Parts: sequence; C-alpha cells; structure tokens
Amino acid sequence: MIEDLLEEDEHEHDEEYDRHSVPGRTSGATLTEQGWYSWHAPYDDLESEQTDRLGAVQDQLVAFLDGARPGELRALSVCSGQSRDLLPILIAHPRGAQVRATMLELDPLNASFLHGALGSTRLSTVDVVVADAGTTDSYEGRVPADLLLLCGVLANVAPADAFTLLDALPMLCAAGATVVWSTYGASLEDADAVIEHLEGGSFERLSVLREPGYVVGAHRFTGEPGPLEPGRRLFSFR
Ligand SMILES: C[S@@+](CC[C@H](N)C(=O)[O-])C[C@H]1O[C@@H](n2cnc3c(N)ncnc32)[C@H](O)[C@@H]1O
Repeated sequence: MIEDLLEEDEHEHDEEYDRHSVPGRTSGATLTEQGWYSWHAPYDDLESEQTDRLGAVQDQLVAFLDGARPGELRALSVCSGQSRDLLPILIAHPRGAQVRATMLELDPLNASFLHGALGSTRLSTVDVVVADAGTTDSYEGRVPADLLLLCGVLANVAPADAFTLLDALPMLCAAGATVVWSTYGASLEDADAVIEHLEGGSFERLSVLREPGYVVGAHRFTGEPGPLEPGRRLFSFR
C-alpha cells in the first residue's frame, strides 16, 4: 500500500507519465491542441460555415434514409473524424438502427470520441475502425456500401489522389449506392472537375449544393460494383 503511494508520487515527477492519458492523445497537449480532434470544434458553433456544411451533408443523409430500400443497409464513412454528420442521423432517423455503419478513421482520439458518443446511444450496429482509409486493405469485409461518405476527404488530398479515389468507387459501392461528399478550401477549384468526373462516369446527380465556402454533393452509383483489389493505395492526406 505504502509502496503504491510512493510509486504514484514518483510518477508525479515523471514527465513520461500522464495520469489523464487518453488513447491517441499527444502527451502534454490539451485536447483543443490535437490537430484533427480540434478541427471539429467549429461544428459546435451554431453560426459557423462548417455547421452549415454539416447541415447540408445531413440533409443528404436523411434523404438517403428516407428513400432507402427496406432491410439492412450498409454505410461507410471514409475518414469519418468524429462522425458529427452521420452518427446523429443514425441516432435520430427511424431507419438508423438498420444501418450497419463503419467509421474509418486514423486518429485514435477521434475514435475515442466516437466510442464515447456511441456509449450513450442504443445503436449496436456501428463499428469504429482505426485504420488508414487510403488503402483498400482497410475496406476488406466492410464494403460494398449502400451509403458512402466522402466528407472532407477530397479537400485534403492532391487532385491526382482525388481522381484515383473516385475511380476506385466501384470497389466500395453497392449497386445503386449513394455517395455523399463535401469539399472546401483550396480544393473548391477542383469541385467542377470532381462533378464532371462523377457524372461523366457511372454516377448520376442527386444533388449539388454550391456555397461560397463549400460544395456538398450526392451522387447515385449507376455502374457495376467491382471486386475490392487488395493492397491498392487510394490517397494520402497532404
Ligand atoms: C477533414 S476531417 C473530416 C472529418 C469528417 N469526415 C467530417 O467531414 O466532418 C478529416 C479526417 O480524416 C482523418 N484522416 C486523415 N488521414 C486519414 C487516413 N489516411 N485514413 C483515415 N482517416 C484519416 C483525420 O484524422 C480527420 O479526422
């Protein structure tokens, strides 16, 4: 007992020891300093452009669920972050519990956030997978998806990677799948090329909302799903 107390006291002087450690958290930094974790903070601001973009994405997610075929559905969010978009919809929508959803996210702290958020829901059909969404290996057993979210991905990859990802969508999409995507920032200038690429290929437009700071699109896959090719790199964040 005394040894335990002494050991605890020793740790107080040990810079490596963090009694408040959170999986994935960078030691010494506050939560608000955690890159892709704090990136989500503007979603808490009712007046932010990010909140407007989130609302536009959620409108498309609700439209998908409202019109979805009966039975179990499969959703996959590529680089889901904290899933501020999909998770609230799964909680609130009558079809939410019929969606087997995968949140594919590299940052363990965002995954911790998601686990915490999920803990206070009745959803038992959501998997949080900490993995690199930029390689096809991470999709094994989780696709084809009826609903694929590409939100905030195209905005963070080079144009060549964006097109590689778009060309790979038949590996990820079930027949008739809906892809909901968003982009913003410097990548806005590539939004027209993204839309042309989708609509010139095997996607038809369901909705495209253009705002000065972002574009949110929803496209239906009209092509033939293809087999997932293992070991292929689709993108890397820049
Ligand atoms: C711009 S945020 C988008 C989050 C969410 N999709 C949204 O729109 O609110 C990008 C997210 O991708 C994650 N990320 C970055 N590279 C990744 C990779 N290779 N695989 C999976 N997630 C990645 C980051 O940790 C971050 O949470």
